[in-house]
Amino acid sequence: MTEKESILISQAHEEVAKHKETVEADPHRLQFHLMSPVGLINDPNGWIQWNGTYHMFYQWNPFKPGHGAKFWGHYTSTDLVHWTHEPIALAPSEWYEKNGCYSGSAVDLDGKLTLFYTGNVKDEEGNRESYQCIAQSQDGITFEKQGPVIDTLPSGYTAHFRDPKVWKHDGVWYLIIGAQTEDLQGHALLYRSNDGRAWTNLGPIAGSGLAPLQQFGFMWECPDVFTLGEKEVMIVSPQGLEPEGMHNHNTYQAGYFVGELDYDLPKFHHGAFDELDRGFEFYAPQTTEDESGRRIMVGWMGVPDQQEDQHPSVKNQWIHCLTIPRELQLKGDRLIQKPVEELQQMRHNEVMHEEATIEGHTELNGVSGDVVELELSDFGSAPAFFEIDFRQEARLVFDRESRVLTLERKNFADRLTEKRQCHLEELQSLRIFMDTSSLEIFVNGGEDVFTSRYFPEPTENRISFTSSEQTTLNVKKWELRG
Ligand code: FRU
Repeated sequence: MTEKESILISQAHEEVAKHKETVEADPHRLQFHLMSPVGLINDPNGWIQWNGTYHMFYQWNPFKPGHGAKFWGHYTSTDLVHWTHEPIALAPSEWYEKNGCYSGSAVDLDGKLTLFYTGNVKDEEGNRESYQCIAQSQDGITFEKQGPVIDTLPSGYTAHFRDPKVWKHDGVWYLIIGAQTEDLQGHALLYRSNDGRAWTNLGPIAGSGLAPLQQFGFMWECPDVFTLGEKEVMIVSPQGLEPEGMHNHNTYQAGYFVGELDYDLPKFHHGAFDELDRGFEFYAPQTTEDESGRRIMVGWMGVPDQQEDQHPSVKNQWIHCLTIPRELQLKGDRLIQKPVEELQQMRHNEVMHEEATIEGHTELNGVSGDVVELELSDFGSAPAFFEIDFRQEARLVFDRESRVLTLERKNFADRLTEKRQCHLEELQSLRIFMDTSSLEIFVNGGEDVFTSRYFPEPTENRISFTSSEQTTLNVKKWELRG
């Protein structure tokens, strides 16, 4: 470890120690979501199951609850429920990463856990440089930096060139990276390598202005490409999409295309973009295929530049968290998200109401709490209007006539009601993960998901249901312990 690196790491530790009490005393600290110990967490990074152990790294600014020169924090788990906080994996100590060890991915290369990440560099005038770097580990805990493996920008592109995601296909390494052209179009570029070190640029495989897309954002962040069933999926976080009907209301979007990747051309033949999530906070997700063959996605429960300084936790020196892990499946060309089955281990004290009658405003015995899972199914009849109120701070409303599902919450700054919506043919089931300050709502078996932060009064634990006409419903509730 260089001297600079050990200084930065001790400064981060000091920051953790300095604010530990304040951070931990915040009743909105989450109970079963990954967070940074202090400061800001953003993208999930290096998500992999390696020699049986799941590794989740994350973008971390230890020095303030805002963005800056990022570190890579590190958690491990063997069951996706119990997580161990590991020593800091990367600190921005070297010339090629001095303004941040930005996002990237992990693979097994030469039997070592190998991180690919972007070294972000800015000079005094704010001019940017970016380097795609490698760090390797024998034990999965301590990493040895090997510096840049891609140090030049392809011609026609700006230095907004980052977030390498690496995978192996037919014995050859591929890397997809987020990029911006000089005329401000967001692209995803494919690279190829035989040894994981010498990389050849194969060019853009999808992007703004590349058929079938017209204008589609000024920057593409965190692209991820994988095979699911017979098809290829690209997940990407494009910046600069205009709101359209119920779509694209967050500051930036995270979504996916389904299609077929022609590795030789190369070109990704794909269909339309759809957002991965209908809620207020979801961005920069990353997937991995685990040893059982599941494709598991974790996202950042936050959005860059979206009222970040207005989050109530900022005064307590921390902000944001990651989502729960979700297994991805394709249904036609639609991605379905299901909480990984391991999360059932978190369930305690089941409360069950079979064919519970909901009429007007209803509270059900034992169905309340702040850190709970709810399962709603078997609606007896389909009321014109059905609502769930979460702790007096957020509401989910299905209006059958317009076939619109709406999530409302109070805005963090002005406390006015704001909403996100999606079209829904019929409300069949809901599976809801509530944490002290988050909601993850899986609709109709994960066909739509609403992921959001919310900040209720810590002592307010009421959950209530409202229905325009009398209906029956099966409701299950568990307390969750992560
Ligand atoms: C996405 C992102 C990435 C970048 C990282 C920096 O949220 O902007 O493009 O690598 O965050 O923290």
